[in-house]
Amino acid sequence: MNLEYLSGFGNEFASEALPGALPVGQNSPQKAPYGLYTELFSGTAFTMARSEARRTWLYRIQPSANHPAFSKLERQLAGGPLGAVTPNRLRWNPLDIPGEPTDFIDGLVGMVANAASQRPSGISVHTYRANRSMERVFFNADGELLIVPEQGRLRIATELGVLEVEPLEIVVLPRGLKFRVELLDAQARGYVAENHGAPLRLPDLGPIGSNGLANPRDFLSPVAHYEDLKQPTTLVQKFLGELWACELDHSPLNVVAWHGNNVPYKYDLRRFNTLGTVSFDHPDPSIFTVLTSPTSVHGLANLDFVIFPPRWMVAENTFRPPWFHRNLMNEYMGLIQGAYDAKAEGFLPGGASLHSCMSAHGPDGETCTKAINAELAPHKIDNTMAFMFETSQVLRPTQFALECPQLQPAYDACWASLPATFNPNRR
Ligand SMILES: [Fe+2]
Repeated sequence: MNLEYLSGFGNEFASEALPGALPVGQNSPQKAPYGLYTELFSGTAFTMARSEARRTWLYRIQPSANHPAFSKLERQLAGGPLGAVTPNRLRWNPLDIPGEPTDFIDGLVGMVANAASQRPSGISVHTYRANRSMERVFFNADGELLIVPEQGRLRIATELGVLEVEPLEIVVLPRGLKFRVELLDAQARGYVAENHGAPLRLPDLGPIGSNGLANPRDFLSPVAHYEDLKQPTTLVQKFLGELWACELDHSPLNVVAWHGNNVPYKYDLRRFNTLGTVSFDHPDPSIFTVLTSPTSVHGLANLDFVIFPPRWMVAENTFRPPWFHRNLMNEYMGLIQGAYDAKAEGFLPGGASLHSCMSAHGPDGETCTKAINAELAPHKIDNTMAFMFETSQVLRPTQFALECPQLQPAYDACWASLPATFNPNRR
């Protein structure tokens, strides 16, 4: 299937799968075309500033309201509640893909979160592993989902249409949007940031100007596509961290036409216009921000999605790896492909690391020694894509993340080999 997409970020899109299905000149006519029902899907409070408001009008075969009561599912999300507080730097090897049949929901494992699920605020981070397509349909009442595939292509059928993504692309699904994740390969694995805060948006560019970083036209939203299926379908929702389900006699992916800006979208990370120094030193990693969820404090993000893509290193007389640092912000890092330039080994595609508020980190001993002694010439870091979910509140690992065998017992040791180079007699 060759999919069609609508290009742009935050646009007021309009799409119809049948000609004339979108009412003209008003949102909620007495009789919608084709006998469709009108439904408003709001992603922000009604009274938000116009520039921040997200909502979409849906024209569908059955309104979402047509469902029986939800019951709590016996099988809840893996990962368990949050574990003990730890200021330690943590790093995980990739989680295995299960052998038994596992769809996207069953394969989600909670890794870290800012707050217990009964009190959604900030972000939660999950890993997903799957080896079969969902037959159920899912929506998340707790926040928007940013999915970062690391292995396997996905076909995501949503209420607003179909998106296909592969590793090195990302997809964002608005809070509450119903969707079904199907696998286009035998198995799939990746990362999910669940954003409980303000919807993700493009960062402001300041002195960079009107172009650069992620460009709006590279964000792609689906066109309307509906399923007119009268077949039993399980609808699952995540509500305050718990999974609940009800049985429908029809597919809830039954929107024939829609218009609005509360939409799912995908983005190819290879299209990121990476900027950096052309003189000396290097800028803060905020220069690599793809998307941001702001808080009410100007400049303080609830979630920054930051990538470390292939790029030329040309800085003169400069320690070129990321500097040693201690930050206010909390950093959950993952790797989609290749190697990350601050770590010689131990950080694998599908793995993850957590550096919490004020925890000291930076290049490991081997990378540091190499960087200090390197003959500096223009050099391209290639075949790599690391990323960071950066958040202003401390992330606590789940019990699973603290107890799983993938947690590396000796991560701190990667800095123990930093050589003693201080000599008061040699300037
Ligand atoms: Fe860092």
